[in-house]
Amino acid sequence: MSSSGGYRPQSVSEVLARGIVSLAKYIDSPRTDAQLLLSSVLGRDRAWLLAHSDSFISRPQGERFAELCEKRATGMPIAYILGTAGFYGREFVVNDKVLVPRPESEVLVDDLLHYLRGRLDPTYPKQLLTVLDVGTGSGAIACTLAAELAAVTVEGVDISLAALKVAEHNARRFNVFAKCKFRFGDLASGIGDRHFDAVVANLPYLPTDAIPKRPDPLSFEPHEALDGGPDGLALYRRLVPMLPPLLKPGALVLLEAAPPTIAGLAEIARTSFPNDEVLAMRDLSGLERYVRILVAR
Ligand SMILES: C[S@@+](CC[C@H](N)C(=O)[O-])C[C@H]1O[C@@H](n2cnc3c(N)ncnc32)[C@H](O)[C@@H]1O
Repeated sequence: MSSSGGYRPQSVSEVLARGIVSLAKYIDSPRTDAQLLLSSVLGRDRAWLLAHSDSFISRPQGERFAELCEKRATGMPIAYILGTAGFYGREFVVNDKVLVPRPESEVLVDDLLHYLRGRLDPTYPKQLLTVLDVGTGSGAIACTLAAELAAVTVEGVDISLAALKVAEHNARRFNVFAKCKFRFGDLASGIGDRHFDAVVANLPYLPTDAIPKRPDPLSFEPHEALDGGPDGLALYRRLVPMLPPLLKPGALVLLEAAPPTIAGLAEIARTSFPNDEVLAMRDLSGLERYVRILVAR
């Protein structure tokens, strides 16, 4: 950087090119990320950057952009730097107390919405379906269900108070706060004598030894959102037996986990749901991604 007297104004394209070079050594998507970071500094979208490549940016803007590139080069997920992450067409607020919502979980939302719509009784317009979201994190799944379907209320449980604050913030952001109740709790304990139409859980599912170290982006995410115990299924082993008494006849349960653990998770599910349909389901990449339990009517 030149001294203040000799500062030379820099154009969008020059600054971007420098950012791309500074990121290229460290991450796989230097161009996209540099554009996203500069967009956030300038308060403009990426299309604006392309259309205004000759515009000049101010010195503080250039310095801020360089700072953000440095952070990104450490491996920190871009969602934590920008403070938002896209999920099912909405921009969720996130911070380093919550898992960055993943596109893989959108398949579970599709499945749930399809199931819930089919469960609505057209002759009963006041019907309200109830969903329990265990390990709600940023509230991505809970808020999406509440926003997509008028006739649904969602209870989101998490063991992290900091995550619950983020979930509540998102529920307000998407105007679904009245339909979402967020509660501190350990898995499904303390639910009482209530029965849900559906349960969804995306619990920590990485085997402890497989949690990567810096600079892997995953290492920036909260440990309590990743650590699934020795084989990745410790939390599901506790959760699944809690579920049968909490479900209405014909209810749906979706449990997300890592592809190599899905067969084991399906076995756990069959033990607690011996008379119900238990299936291993794939995500859009064709990998086994979640277990689907359909309770008999
Ligand atoms: C993998 S993250 C999923 C977050 C969110 N559902 C999503 O899909 O983006 C798992 C979440 O489970 C929470 N969690 C971990 N152990 C828990 C427990 N015993 N009871 C409730 N929540 C738990 C973590 O705090 C974290 O927010």
